[in-house]
Formats: sequence, structure tokens, C-alpha cells
Amino acid sequence: MATAVITGGTDGIGRALADTYLARGHEVLVLGTSAEKGRAFVDAAARSGAGDRARFVRADLSRVAENRRVIDLITETCRAVDVLVLGARYHRSTRVETPDGFESNFALFYLSRFLLSHGLVELLGRAERGTVLNFGGAGLTGPVRWNDLQLRRNYPGTGALGHSGALCDLLGVHFGRVHRDTPVRYVLNHPGVVSTSFAGEYDSSTAAHVDRLRTSGKPVSLAVAQILPFLDAPPARLTAVLEGRQVSTRGPGFDPRDAARLHQETEKLLAGLPR
Ligand SMILES: NC(=O)c1ccc[n+]([C@@H]2O[C@H](COP(=O)([O-])OP(=O)(O)OC[C@H]3O[C@@H](n4cnc5c(N)ncnc54)[C@H](OP(=O)(O)O)[C@@H]3O)[C@@H](O)[C@H]2O)c1
Repeated sequence: MATAVITGGTDGIGRALADTYLARGHEVLVLGTSAEKGRAFVDAAARSGAGDRARFVRADLSRVAENRRVIDLITETCRAVDVLVLGARYHRSTRVETPDGFESNFALFYLSRFLLSHGLVELLGRAERGTVLNFGGAGLTGPVRWNDLQLRRNYPGTGALGHSGALCDLLGVHFGRVHRDTPVRYVLNHPGVVSTSFAGEYDSSTAAHVDRLRTSGKPVSLAVAQILPFLDAPPARLTAVLEGRQVSTRGPGFDPRDAARLHQETEKLLAGLPR
């Protein structure tokens, strides 16, 4: 049986993808922090007769140790991973650091995706067509603040999401170089504005802006329909998709030298943490 692992699978686009893969007969493991949302996913699956294929694991993926725990758990319990969807995000209008000392968007939107992409590559390689879907910036959301990856100076508010998106684009580029011997495909997707929960904590002006996005965004079903063809048959080892349209991975947002640099800097940051 094929397996889909979905971070942020308890809500928004991730939840819709989780339901899609359940309906296709996959075993689906969703990750999130809310036990209530996790139970809602498992209960809905049970009602549709797929309860034995739906699993929820509660994890705060903004913590490095939690990502490592999840990688171990998946490695122990899954023979292979066919689809890995990296969709967890939680935005705050003001800068917050995680207990590991990382800016919170950097930690959840980028570092968790770095750890899970590389940490699950062996299981992805065991699947017939292992594929990673990472919601990045599809080359549009840089530039990277190389001297301030933790966004300590002039925290950009919602711009922090775009900054992490740019880091995810570079992660996708370098993933294929590190794992050039595996057939694993990497799909970077910017879905455009989608009407989801926009999980986060916002000041009043950002909350008003987010409310407008919730009302004006496209339905989740459309965002899913725009990405599924690329997930089902990725046209290249690395594919970038912007609102359902394939875009070039040769632009400045996908520079291989920047991708290698970010990989190195990330390894250095991780090396500074206790194992
Ligand atoms: N919606 C848009 O307009 C839009 C635009 C561009 C890009 N995207 C990207 O698309 C992806 C999905 O976005 P969305 O809008 O569908 O998401 P969403 O509705 O805001 O849901 C966020 C998900 O992340 C999970 N999450 C939050 N904090 C977490 C943590 N610390 N550890 C683990 N999981 C956590 C939440 O689960 P719990 O509540 O259970 O923790 C939830 O399932 C994201 O990468 C987003 O950046 C979305």
C-alpha cells in the first residue's frame, strides 16, 4: 500500500491532500500540533471506511528534536514513503524564537522541511516514484537575507513567510544534488492565495489583511487540482509550480551556488545544537 506523509495535514491544503490520498487508497500519516484537528481527521476517515489507513501524530515541528523523533517513528513504522508533503506553517506578526534559538518561521517553514526531506530520503527512495512536495516561493519570494537568516533586524512581518519560501526553493535545488543517486522527485509549489485557516497569531492590522486573504483566496479544492497533476507525474527531478503552471528552475531564486551555501549554513546551525 502506498504511503503519504503530510505535515500540516490537519488543516487547509494539507488536509485536502490527506483526504485525496485517503480516497485513493493510500495509508496517510498527518502531522500537526492540534490533537483535536488530528482526531477530526482520523474520525472522518473512520466514517468513510478508511479508519485503518489514517494516522495522526502530534508533533511540534518547529522543534528540531521533534522532527528527529518523527523521522525515527516513520522509519520504524513505514516500509516506504511515496509522497511527502511539507505544508506545516504558523505565522506570527512579531518575531518569536523557538527553544532551539531559531526564528519561528525559519524553524517551521524551512528547517523542519530540511530535516524531513533529507531524513526521509531513504524511505522515499524505496517507493516506486517517491515524491516530495514543498510549498516554497516558486522562485519569486527572495531575496535571501544571507547575513540575517534569523530575521533579527527589521523583522518583515508576513514577509517572513516569503523569506522561508525562498529558502525552501533553494532546499529543493540542493536536495537533488545531495541525493543525485536516488530517483526521488522534488516539487516546489507556490499555490497563490488560498482560502485556508492561515494558522497564526496576528496583530490587528495583519489580522484584517489575513481576513481579506481568507475571503478573496481561491478554494482549497482548486489549489489541490492545480498541484495534483505535477505530484502524480513530476516532469523533472526538480519541478517548480506557480498556481498550476510549471515555471523555470533556472532563475535567480534557484541558483545552485546559493542552494549549496544555504545547505552548508544549515548544517552549521544544526551542528551547534545538542543531539
Ligand atoms: N493559504 C495560502 O494562501 C498560501 C499561500 C502561499 C503558500 N501557502 C503554503 O501552503 C502550505 C499550506 O498552507 P495552508 O494555508 O493550507 O495552511 P493552514 O491552513 O494555515 O494550516 C497550517 C497547518 O500547519 C500545522 N502546524 C502549525 N504549526 C505547526 C507546528 N508547530 N508543528 C506542526 N504542524 C504545525 C497546522 O496544524 P495544527 O493546527 O494541528 O498545528 C495546520 O495543519 C503552507 O506551506 C503555506 O505556506 C499557502
